[in-house]
Amino acid sequence: MISWGWRWWAHLCGKDVFRNIPEQKNRSISSLWRSYHQRTSGSLLDPEIRKFLEENTEITSSGNLTPEIKLRLLTPHCRFWKEKAALWPYKEPYWAIYWPGGQGLSRYLLDNPEVVQMKKVLDLGSGCGATAIAAVMSGASEVVANDTDPIAGAALMLNCELNKVNPFLFVSDNLIGSEVDSWDLIVLGDMFYSEQLANNLHQWLKKCIRTYGTKVLIGDPGRHHFVCHQIHSQLHKVTEYSLPELTQQESNGSTSTMVWHYRP
Ligand SMILES: C[S@@+](CC[C@H](N)C(=O)[O-])C[C@H]1O[C@@H](n2cnc3c(N)ncnc32)[C@H](O)[C@@H]1O
Repeated sequence: MISWGWRWWAHLCGKDVFRNIPEQKNRSISSLWRSYHQRTSGSLLDPEIRKFLEENTEITSSGNLTPEIKLRLLTPHCRFWKEKAALWPYKEPYWAIYWPGGQGLSRYLLDNPEVVQMKKVLDLGSGCGATAIAAVMSGASEVVANDTDPIAGAALMLNCELNKVNPFLFVSDNLIGSEVDSWDLIVLGDMFYSEQLANNLHQWLKKCIRTYGTKVLIGDPGRHHFVCHQIHSQLHKVTEYSLPELTQQESNGSTSTMVWHYRP
């Protein structure tokens, strides 16, 4: 039996597993998800997906760096923490963990609202949506969350509801490599987990910066594909946070997480 537990996730992170994620295992996601471009309004959420997520996640606000944000996550009290992975009916739920990189970024945005106030912000690889929600809470004028897993968009809807945050746009297209848009700020939490992704992100982010002067902030606890990538020589450390005990225990040895400003 494969456990979905933290240690398993941490073990996977840093390997090229994301490139091999199979598509929907036993049903077409498009039949469940009305559109890949949705305002995060709970009323648009397919009732079947809502029920599944409500039954298989737990609301939590402790053990991470942003206790002021409530999140539905996969915890040891959830069935799929220990259940056979094959029974999970969607893509592997990487969104269901609040990763150290995202935690640091969200903490930074909440503590430094001037970074996002009146800004058009993209959270790329938004996962559970915590960093996008932090940007909204801190006064961003426009926030778009982007994750290639549409179920992350559904989780984001529920998490917006939990935090009484007004609906904002979720996009599930792969934006990396696409024509760049005029973002004031792009935030990325724990997105440098494979060499290929790091290379693609590096080029695309550079284009965003050169075309529109976009500011890019990256949250990362020191993962191999981030620290060893050439992008690292063009980063400026903004801040570092000690990880809470629970996140440390379950993050494969990481004790802190950092926010970096990419300035090529
Ligand atoms: C390690 S998780 C980080 C989630 C969140 N940023 C955090 O820090 O908690 C990576 C997320 O990126 C998403 N992802 C993977 N490739 C992507 C891509 N090309 N574009 C957008 N999202 C992607 C995954 O579905 C997953 O939710």
